[in-house]
Parts: sequence; C-alpha cells; structure tokens
Amino acid sequence: MKYKTLKGLQDILPPEIAAWHHIENKARDIFRNYGYQEIRLPILEATDVFIRSIGETSDIVEKEMYTFQDKGGRSVTLRPEGTASFVRAYVEHHLYNDPSPQKFYYLGPMFRYERPQAFRYRQFYQIGAEAMGIDDPKLDAEIIAMLSKLLHSIGLAGLNFEVTSIGCKKCRPDYRTALKSFLGGKLDTFCGDCQRRYDANPLRILDCKVPSCIESRKGSPPVLDYLCGECRDHFESLRGYLDVLNVPHTVNPNLVRGLDYYTKTAFEVSSENLGSQSAVAAGGRYDSMVAEFGGPSTPGIGFAMGMERIIPLIQDSVSKATGPDLLFCPLGDKASEKAFVLTEQLRAMGIWGEMNHESASMRSQMRKANRIGAKNVIVLGEDEIGKGEITIKNMTDGNSIKSSLVASDIFKIISQHK
Ligand code: HAM
Repeated sequence: MKYKTLKGLQDILPPEIAAWHHIENKARDIFRNYGYQEIRLPILEATDVFIRSIGETSDIVEKEMYTFQDKGGRSVTLRPEGTASFVRAYVEHHLYNDPSPQKFYYLGPMFRYERPQAFRYRQFYQIGAEAMGIDDPKLDAEIIAMLSKLLHSIGLAGLNFEVTSIGCKKCRPDYRTALKSFLGGKLDTFCGDCQRRYDANPLRILDCKVPSCIESRKGSPPVLDYLCGECRDHFESLRGYLDVLNVPHTVNPNLVRGLDYYTKTAFEVSSENLGSQSAVAAGGRYDSMVAEFGGPSTPGIGFAMGMERIIPLIQDSVSKATGPDLLFCPLGDKASEKAFVLTEQLRAMGIWGEMNHESASMRSQMRKANRIGAKNVIVLGEDEIGKGEITIKNMTDGNSIKSSLVASDIFKIISQHK
C-alpha cells in the first residue's frame, strides 16, 4: 500500500529547512528587541473558543474548521488561527495582571479546510504576535513597524502595507444600517451565503469571494466614512505614528478581514510576487475579545504571518543546508574502528563529524564526500594508521594539510576551515 500526505498538507524536507530557520531566528531576535515572549499553545481547543471569537458567520467557522468529537463526546477543533487560543490562555492564566503591555509571540501550525492552491494550504504555519492592555495608537504603529522590520530583515522586498479602521461597537451599528440599505435593493444578485448573512452579519458580505458578489457590492459605503470620533482620531494618530516610524503604507478602505473579532485598526501586508494569494501577514486590534472570554475589559492588537508564503520569496537567497565539517573515509576494518572513535571525539569538541560506514573504494568515497557537501575529508588507510599521520583535504579550496592522528590536532585544523 502507498501512503501520501493528505490534500493541502505538505512535508517540509531538509533542503528547505534552512529558510524556515532563517525566518524563525530573525523573528526571535526582533521579538526580543521589542519585549515579546514566546507562548506555546495547544493545537486543539474546545470548538466554542473559535466560534465565539472568529464569528459564526465567518468562512472559517462556517466552512473551514477541522472539528470533531473526541472520545469523551466533546466538540474540539484544530486551531484555524492563533489569536482565539491565545486570548483563551490569556484569560485562563490571568495574564492581564502583569504590567501592561503584555507582549507574546507564537509559532506553529494552523488548520483550515480551504480549497488548496498555490500558497494556500490546509495545514500552514504562522508566526504571530499579540500585545495586550494598551489602546494607544502608538502601540498599533509599533507592532506594524516591528512587522515591517521583521519582513525586511528576512529579506522580503516589494511589500505593500495597507491599513484601515473598521470601527468599534459604538460606530458599527450606523455602518451596518448604511450597508444594509445599500445591499438590500439587490440582495437577489448575491449568493445564498450572502443572503443568509444579510441579517445575521452583513459585514461578512464584504468578504465573500464569489465573483458575482464582488461585482454586486461595488460602490458599497466605505466603513471609514462611518467612524465615530474616537475611532477616527485613533486611525489618524496611527497613520501619523507610522510616518514617524518611517513605515510607508496606504489606506485601503475596502480591506476586509475574515475574522469577526476586529475593532478599529486592521492591516494587511501583501507581496507583489505572490499572485492571487498575496497576503504574507495580517492583523488588527481586538478590544472586546478578552471581555467576551470572561476576562476584564482589555484591549489587544496583533498579527500573524504565513510561513509558506514567505519561504518561496526568500528560498533562493538563503544558503542551503551544508554538509558535515569533516568526513572520514576509512579503507578497511582497522581504519573504520579508528575513524569511529575519532569521529565521536571530534563531535564532543563541537565539530560536525561523519564517517563512511560502507567499505568502498577511495574514488567512490570521494564521490560521496562531494555529494553530501563535506567541507573536509580524511582518507584513513593502513598506511596512515601505521605512521600516525594523516592528510586533511579541504574540499572548498582543494588544499591539503598534514596532521597527527590525534583528535585535538585534527580539531585545530578543522575549526579553522569549517
Ligand atoms: P489571517 O489573515 O487569517 O489572520 O492569517 C494571517 C496570515 O496567515 C495570512 O496573511 C497568510 O499569510 C497566512 N494564511 C492564512 N491562511 C492560509 C492558508 N490557508 N495557507 C497558507 N497561509 C495562510 C489571522 O490568522 C489572525 N489570527 C492574525 C491576527 C493576530 N490578528 C490579530 N492577531
């Protein structure tokens, strides 16, 4: 029987992993500079965690969640995103008691049963950050600036930062009324999902991907025209602070997020080089979620970036994983025993050492050394063992250096030619 990965899932194999490490290391460095601490959350949560926050009428909750009953009959869901899980943990562990802002980051897999296509997977990895407890627009600007710094330090170019405000509980009812009166007259031109959402949550109609719905909603009133004074001030201040921090951005009044929990600031970063799935990162403010989860009213803002969309953009510029610092090519049993001990001694000193285990000719051993990208090679035969002297061949410059057959001497030479 042949097994294959499930549709929309993928194995990440070693040649690609250098790019993953590159991104993760840059992220950890930059998060540290900004005071974000790592939080590790379960992949599985009670289904309600997502329904309550992402929203019953969102595509994610309606169509895309991996939900099943566990053996105890509880409905559980593989997390489709990190923010809801994070807020659940934030409230459960009373993290709001720590001095504000509390800043966290996470990395790991998310699951959405979407139609797979280029750069869209059913299991995908996000790196996300969340900052809690402060509703000052300076924090919005700071987190967007941090994201910009991170994406640029990873090596991305051609990015477009789009920002908008989607209002708050105070101004949303007015916007909802205006939107309903615009859409109401032509409701029969919308898909069944949108017709259903018209009463339950008309804002979701703005997120529908059906081409006829996109056409029919053209000219709908922009949410920015309906912001209350507080939201408008917040948005204007955010834009000013982004200028202060030198983050070029554009206002996109049509930016719609697929999650219901956002208030005020929403943003998306897209790449010119990705085609239709161009969002590499997105986020926004969610000032009501903590209270809705039973905690004290606490504002929050965050983002998440999609690893699978960033990897292809940097793959060629990140050097591929390299081979061992040293490969022993022993000729015969005695040499093999000696190489076995030396390899282990050199590893203890911090050298990545390997040895050939199969007895093969010197030529085929050298071929293998080239294939695995060994940086240095020692051919070890009866002669070398008898004399206690070996030659270390550097595979990059082709030079050879003599050494005694003692691990510490070999170490000195290899550590200069790693
Ligand atoms: P999101 O916009 O749903 O936001 O996802 C963030 C990023 O994850 C997207 O911009 C994209 O790069 C990546 N992504 C999403 N779905 C897929 C997929 N099927 N395949 C590959 N990549 C994907 C959130 O998840 C929010 N939790 C962000 C946030 C954090 N808001 C506040 N805090």
